[in-house]
Amino acid sequence: MRMRKKKWVTPFLENENKYIIKKRQPLELGPKTVLEIGMGMGDFITQSAKNNPKIDYIGFEKVDLCVAHAVLKAQELELDNLRIIMDDAKNVDEYFDHNVDTLVLLFSDPWPKKRQYKRRLTYRDFIQKYEKILKDEGEIVFKSDNRQLFEFTLKEFSHFDFYLLDLSLDLELEENSPISNYEKRFREMGNPIYYAHFKKRVDKKTI
Ligand SMILES: C[S@@+](CC[C@H](N)C(=O)[O-])C[C@H]1O[C@@H](n2cnc3c(N)ncnc32)[C@H](O)[C@@H]1O
Repeated sequence: MRMRKKKWVTPFLENENKYIIKKRQPLELGPKTVLEIGMGMGDFITQSAKNNPKIDYIGFEKVDLCVAHAVLKAQELELDNLRIIMDDAKNVDEYFDHNVDTLVLLFSDPWPKKRQYKRRLTYRDFIQKYEKILKDEGEIVFKSDNRQLFEFTLKEFSHFDFYLLDLSLDLELEENSPISNYEKRFREMGNPIYYAHFKKRVDKKTI
């Protein structure tokens, strides 16, 4: 996502000390952690954190303007169970190590051109890192309105030890469930929402 630079963003983020994790180092986490990579403006993760105060939420996003908007939402909701990492997903394994329960990937950039496929957040190099950061039997929730990215994702996951717990080619939205900015937009446009739910496969015999 390319965005015009806003002057208030850099000083705002520099002075923010409650929500933003400023060092690239392993994090201390509570018993249950949900990580969203590519959280955008943070609509989904801030609403989720508000609804589930006992769960630790970590938002991961590389664009500073998005991070700043997510912080504003967290401040407004007075959240105590959300932290935000402003970094590239390629560094995610420097913050986590087998301690994430659920990884959420919502409407990731599809990078449709052939030569860009390595940037997709479900390219195998990323999945390899996700395997490392998830707890045994940790889960990944993926949603997209992009059929090509969805099919690419299923193929990439097929190279790894994950169960496919559930999938949909037109996911219905459960009442009152948190919704991301892009999901809201695509639903309003009437686009089908593709969904896949994976679970890390440690015990090779049972789900
Ligand atoms: C299409 S937007 C979707 C935002 C949000 N998940 C939603 O559903 O509204 C994709 C987001 O992923 C972020 N992103 C893409 N690649 C990333 C990467 N390698 N590391 C961190 N964030 C990334 C982009 O900056 C952008 O904010």
